[in-house]
Amino acid sequence: MTESSPSSPPSILLIISGGIAAYKSLELIRLLKKTGTTVRVILTKGGAQFVTPLSVSALSEHAVYTDLWSLKDESEMGHIRLSREADLIVVAPASANLIAKMVHGIADDLASTTLLASNKPIIVSPAMNPEMWTKSSTQRNIALLKEDGVHIISPTIGEMACGETGPGRMPEALEIFNVIQNFLIKEKPLSGKKALVTSGPTFEPIDPVRYIGNRSSGKQGHAIAAELERQGASVTLISGPVSLPDPAHIKTIRVETAECMKNAVLENLPADIFVGAAAVADWRIENQTAQKIKKRTGSPTLDLKLTENPDILQIISNLPNRPQLVIGFAAETHDVLNFARAKLLKKGCDWIIANQVGTDENPVFGSDRNQVTLVTHTLTEDWPVASKTTVAKMLVQKIIEELRNHEQPSCHNRSA
Ligand code: CTP
Repeated sequence: MTESSPSSPPSILLIISGGIAAYKSLELIRLLKKTGTTVRVILTKGGAQFVTPLSVSALSEHAVYTDLWSLKDESEMGHIRLSREADLIVVAPASANLIAKMVHGIADDLASTTLLASNKPIIVSPAMNPEMWTKSSTQRNIALLKEDGVHIISPTIGEMACGETGPGRMPEALEIFNVIQNFLIKEKPLSGKKALVTSGPTFEPIDPVRYIGNRSSGKQGHAIAAELERQGASVTLISGPVSLPDPAHIKTIRVETAECMKNAVLENLPADIFVGAAAVADWRIENQTAQKIKKRTGSPTLDLKLTENPDILQIISNLPNRPQLVIGFAAETHDVLNFARAKLLKKGCDWIIANQVGTDENPVFGSDRNQVTLVTHTLTEDWPVASKTTVAKMLVQKIIEELRNHEQPSCHNRSA
């Protein structure tokens, strides 16, 4: 059994608007980069009066985006994609002007247009002169932003660059960094949840050089593990022999046989979610030999005695500390739905993802695409033909909805 280890770096879009505090944002970029965070930066015209695009791009290791009408910026990464590819948007420093634009939906430059087009959480760290901060118009705007769900980092009190003293200073980079870290942990829907995923085939040895295996590539199981991790779950992937690399940031345990897969699963419980995507061999060789079986003259046949392997999905479904959601797969060549429903009942799992295999349109094994049907105890839902990555995203969204509807403390809080 071999193991490889873990947590995917988040991606942040930082908007630096005009204010002397912009220099602190350079330090913020440095701190974020140290944790492996991807940082893309929009620098407004005002921001560029205080820090240079060159220092921002050197620290962020990405091009700096400045102009809504720049063909180059838009062709490299348009303003919609800039916001979509980030997990979080941070505006620091946020000038009174940019805050007012956000409140009123004004989109007259790259920063304000991206903010208006965004569907991501936003943190705003205002920085301005104390008179500007305390002015009723600014306070009204801040109250409206909060109502809109924007997270505000209150400015601190101190001496300002202009010589006046009062509230309006942007907190130090480290404080903003800490707010971002806490926010990211809370924001991912599966944060605090533990998921176990099996993937790939199992190989059952006949002798030291031969085995019985199957055609599973592991693509679907690995994609599900990656998506669960992207949504914040702590994932352990137990993979049979596949030619895929271990997914980045996921604890991966490689096994060969069904028996080893079962042991690895049991050793990694408790979990909140179990997805059995592996094509586990139903039988192993009972009379396995320690030495290579030689051809014997006069004996053209070889008898192999097979014995049934443990059914991992059934075992997990029936444990007293079973995961809250147990999901299995059913790859069938015919009568797909009936077999899937029968498996759901026999094994005691919550959902079965069924698919028809072996047809020309849906070879599934090794293919990048899949057409599946979700079968639960209450519904049957056909999903369209899609890439295995899309199927993984759809399944994980269903998992998120299901867990939300039946909110329970995570397995970390339950005794094993
Ligand atoms: N499974 C398992 N352990 C086994 C066999 C299957 O955990 N020994 C799981 C698979 O990971 C999958 C589900 O059970 O999630 C259904 O697997 P499948 O091979 O389709 O079903 P079987 O129960 O093996 O039935 P059959 O091969 O007769 O269709």
